[in-house]
Amino acid sequence: MADLSCTYLGLKLKSPIIAASSGFTDSVHKIQQFEQYGAGAIVLKSIFEEEILFEYDKTIRDEEEKTGREEFLDYLDVRIRQENIKKYIDLIKGAKEKVSIPVIASINCKSTHEWMSFAKEIEKAGADALELNVFVLPSGLENNSLENEKIYFDIASSVTKLIQIPVVLKISFYFSNLGQFIQKISYTGIKGLVLFNRFYSPDINIETLQVSPSNVLSYPGEISMPLRWMAMMSGRVGCDLAASTGVEDGKAVIKLLLAGANVVQVASALYRHGISYFEVLNHELTEWMDQHNFDKVDDFRGKLSQVKHNDPAVFERVQFMKYFSDKEGLA
Ligand SMILES: Cc1cc2nc3c(=O)[nH]c(=O)nc-3n(C[C@H](O)[C@H](O)[C@H](O)COP(=O)(O)O)c2cc1C
Repeated sequence: MADLSCTYLGLKLKSPIIAASSGFTDSVHKIQQFEQYGAGAIVLKSIFEEEILFEYDKTIRDEEEKTGREEFLDYLDVRIRQENIKKYIDLIKGAKEKVSIPVIASINCKSTHEWMSFAKEIEKAGADALELNVFVLPSGLENNSLENEKIYFDIASSVTKLIQIPVVLKISFYFSNLGQFIQKISYTGIKGLVLFNRFYSPDINIETLQVSPSNVLSYPGEISMPLRWMAMMSGRVGCDLAASTGVEDGKAVIKLLLAGANVVQVASALYRHGISYFEVLNHELTEWMDQHNFDKVDDFRGKLSQVKHNDPAVFERVQFMKYFSDKEGLA
């Protein structure tokens, strides 16, 4: 039978299919279920930079020391935020006690700030790696693209200097020169890149004339974005690549591995099918590998990446002209 084991960030995984950061990865109990159903690793639900900042806000700590009074902590919700931070550290410790699969902590951040000291606590608590979900919405009319990109480079270099565990950057595709950005950031000392994060986006309700949230969960067609970029960047970067967005079934996992992903992350499919769906995904992958006589994941990983493909231009075609001109009646 096919062997699904692989290496990601230098960590040994039993499967290349891992649980993405989401509400499903916020408790030790659920993390135990992920292990039971065959997830290769889990990325914990993110803690937000803003939550951490309050804990590290020097003014607040100085005030507490000076006055010896704790009541003011209730002001500004500081106490709630401190509890969240403690809970996060307890989650890492609890998960590490109960499971043997790698536990990857996650921070949502958008700046270099004092929150970085918290990365050290995450490392001390025993996390196997740290994924940074970095997002700067490039909507600021006063910043140019280089200034926005610099934020990512600053975060990557500061955090990799601070901690020894592998650091992963989870990014969006909102960059003006995405290929070059991915390549450059992959050589900053980070050990992995997640292509791509998916954001909560606004929609417009035409009956109530109000702005409403759009689909929280992805749909399978969304795999085309990570698939194209995975195929184009695999073999051209200095770190591992994880695929994320639109992974609904075993076929999607296989496609992304063929494109060159080291691992494939899953979130929305878990909301639709539950944690036990990992068994199905691993089974579909194993069955396909057996049918195609691949013993190990590395035997086919990246086989259809652009650097290995005999027609590299297939990944760069972006216009539909030929497709439509071939289809009668569509013009
Ligand atoms: C309900 C929900 C909560 C999520 N929370 C986080 C989070 O805390 N941190 C993060 O980096 N990504 C978060 N994500 C994004 C997922 O990790 C993933 O990147 C995205 O949903 C695309 O993958 P999918 O198509 O498999 O859902 C969340 C996604 C969902 C659906």
